Amino acid sequence: MKLRTLLFSGTFAALLASPALGQSMVGEAHDFSGTGWAGGEICKPCHTPHNAVVDESGEPVGWLWNHTLTTAVYTMYDGNTYDAGPDDGDAAFDKLSRLCMSCHDGTIALDAYGGSVGSIFINGDEKIGTDLADDHPIGRDAVYLEEGSSRWQPADANHKLGPNGELKLREMNVDGTLDYVVGCMTCHTPHYKGYDHQLRMTNNSSALCLSCHIK
Ligand code: HEC
Ligand code: HEC
Ligand code: HEC
Ligand code: HEC
Repeated sequence: MKLRTLLFSGTFAALLASPALGQSMVGEAHDFSGTGWAGGEICKPCHTPHNAVVDESGEPVGWLWNHTLTTAVYTMYDGNTYDAGPDDGDAAFDKLSRLCMSCHDGTIALDAYGGSVGSIFINGDEKIGTDLADDHPIGRDAVYLEEGSSRWQPADANHKLGPNGELKLREMNVDGTLDYVVGCMTCHTPHYKGYDHQLRMTNNSSALCLSCHIK
């Protein structure tokens, strides 16, 4: 038994160290296993195998989500593509961005997962806050015209942009119409894809920005 345990942990350590795993999130920004609040695990603050979080209507949020959801109301950035009208809280952006904001808006504790209320909050540059007027537009303020124009790169049939389709627009119901919008997950990944700041592609020479904006 002991030998088996040793062999197993040895293999596991080798796997973790192996470059074959490539873009592992181990040791990256969202690996909280070294903090005091994540119970020594990586996935647990965000995912659970059982009893995942349900939304207001009692439906599972999806992705086996484990973190308490934010219900904050946001100040949005009113860009030029769509007149967003009055802000309407968490309906102002797509569902996945809401998952991100459940830590990054600073209203819900980092350790509020698995049913705990938690007491440790995000701070510093990583705290995006509830005032999004000083951030790149997302959600209903960032409806993307997929056909392209003199301002925009055309998206592919799967609503993807970027040289290899790295960036994905998110589905969102904007005032009764299904639209494709920019969300946190358009530019970022919650896991890790090999780029700084959890980005989905390089932003060297502003490549990420130029995947959408023609400038
Ligand atoms: C900071 C939060 C966070 C952490 C930590 C995290 N995830 Fe995720 N994960 C997400 C979000 C958000 C999604 C849904 C968006 C998507 O599809 O990528 C997701 C989706 C997934 C999916 C389904 C989509 C896919 O990419 O295959 C799997 C599987 C997954 N995560 C596994 C893991 C595992 C395993 C760990 C721990 C090693 C982990 N995640 C850690 C946030 C997180
Ligand atoms: C996935 C596509 C996409 C990417 C990538 C992207 N943008 Fe945008 N950007 C948008 C959309 C959509 C809007 C909202 C435009 C509007 O309302 O006119 C926007 C708005 C803006 C605005 C404000 C325009 C206004 O009318 O006020 C600026 C400035 C901007 N983006 C700069 C950037 C920079 C810098 C980057 C790279 C860090 C970037 N964008 C990456 C799609 C994108
Ligand atoms: C469980 C809480 C939690 C969730 C959920 C979460 N984050 Fe984070 N995120 C953090 C913390 C804490 C840090 C700061 C880590 C550190 O101190 O290095 C961070 C850091 C980051 C960074 C900075 C990385 C860098 O190297 O500059 C980005 C970008 C980011 N998160 C994006 C996201 C996005 C996008 C989502 C949604 C898919 C998300 N986060 C969901 C807690 C979370
Ligand atoms: C249009 C692309 C884009 C969108 C949309 C976007 N980000 Fe970022 N984000 C970036 C880039 C690029 C950086 C790196 C900035 C730099 O180079 O300093 C960044 C940096 C960050 C950081 C690191 C702290 C900082 O200020 O540098 C965090 C945390 C973060 N983003 C979270 C989010 C969250 C949460 C959302 C959704 C509300 C989001 N981002 C939406 C492109 C984006």
